[in-house]
Amino acid sequence: MNFLATPRGYLITAKLNSKRFYLTLLCLTLLWSTLMSTSVSAQKFSNLADTPPMGWNSWNTFACDINEQLIRDIADVMVSSGMKEAGYEYVNIDDCWHGERDDNGFIQANEARFPSGIKALADYIHSKGLKLGIYSDAGDKTCGGKPGSNGYEYQDALQYARWGVDYLKYDWCNTENLNSAGAYRTMRDALYSAKRPVVLSICEWGDTKPWLWGKEFGHLWRTTGDIIDCWDCEVDHGTWSSWGIMRILDMQAGLRQYAGPNHWNDPDMMEVGNRMSVNEDRAHFSIWAMLAAPLIAGNDLRNMSTEAQNTLTNKAMIAINQDALGVQAFKYKVAGNIEYWFKPLANKAWALMVLNRGEKAQQINLDWRAETVIDPFFPVEGSKYNADFKNSRYRITNVWDTSSNDKINTTATSTALTVPSHDVVVLRLDKISLSDSH
Ligand code: GLA
Repeated sequence: MNFLATPRGYLITAKLNSKRFYLTLLCLTLLWSTLMSTSVSAQKFSNLADTPPMGWNSWNTFACDINEQLIRDIADVMVSSGMKEAGYEYVNIDDCWHGERDDNGFIQANEARFPSGIKALADYIHSKGLKLGIYSDAGDKTCGGKPGSNGYEYQDALQYARWGVDYLKYDWCNTENLNSAGAYRTMRDALYSAKRPVVLSICEWGDTKPWLWGKEFGHLWRTTGDIIDCWDCEVDHGTWSSWGIMRILDMQAGLRQYAGPNHWNDPDMMEVGNRMSVNEDRAHFSIWAMLAAPLIAGNDLRNMSTEAQNTLTNKAMIAINQDALGVQAFKYKVAGNIEYWFKPLANKAWALMVLNRGEKAQQINLDWRAETVIDPFFPVEGSKYNADFKNSRYRITNVWDTSSNDKINTTATSTALTVPSHDVVVLRLDKISLSDSH
């Protein structure tokens, strides 16, 4: 039949054409919406942790004994003590801020402890140029027995966004039937859909190797169980243990290649300024800095000693931690109780930490020209880092003992050092001679 021959034919053709038109339109719409849904599919907020996050968290000192006045006071001291100026940014409320869920299922703060609510607290913290962190748990209840986010992830994320929360530590208690990667993915998606950029701190204690799957979901992941403020101890709590500084350090073996900008290994919040000696605190802080770990203080900033304050705000040590390369240190050499750790830095610089784990001070002689340091594993720009001290020269800055830094000290001659017991010497090495080696 030739439809085009008659006026009626024109009509039928037009009808058919319009059918085809609507069909095509429908197909295009479906294709468009599929493309759109792919392009806006949930992801981790990017660039929130290009360098390891720095801040404070309530748990190590206060556990469940927290309230809004404490958090405000900490924010004030963060500014007045020089910590903000040194780079500390997040004020993080850990477990036990929670009240109950309201009739619609939205979580509320504990009214007695946070009478003004979390939004008012966030506003206060933001007015100081700082950011607010909060805590939840992937299970039905938090480790402290408060309401967890299981089944409420999207509502909780929405509530945090309404309050102005910037950082979420997401814990792993009471999660017996959950898959870890799945649970952290759900919270990542929920945060993304709530549209407020939030740093997601994965806190599953290293149980299911988050370094293998966490990068897609969070900005940092705990590598171990909880820290405790002792040099080298394990405290057994029955079903779990907490760990001293040396124990946690040793548990980081083999993990450095998994960390980098926006996805850091987290050996837990710091204990600087709590029960350890000044030497141990200095070593603890230096180790965390060398490991490119998040620097989250866990002491009572309102009453800290000058020594603790000086340790936490050492700018040269913080610069090593916050170095743009974002590469963790590696253990280069062990000699008895002495460990030598090297961290590659931007602009072909290096940091060297000499750690004395033993009970006695040790004399060290660094014969630079006898050493060639080769990074055992870190493919950055396709090549390994190495420091050839025979052919390249570096200017030495002593990070903790600034008394000799006005002299020009270089790797042209050997360096004699004393490393006290349970302490470190940290040297920054900036390249001064021309050579192609790093
Ligand atoms: C777990 C975490 C700690 C702390 C407590 C709170 O133990 O690992 O860092 O958040 O829960 O209950």
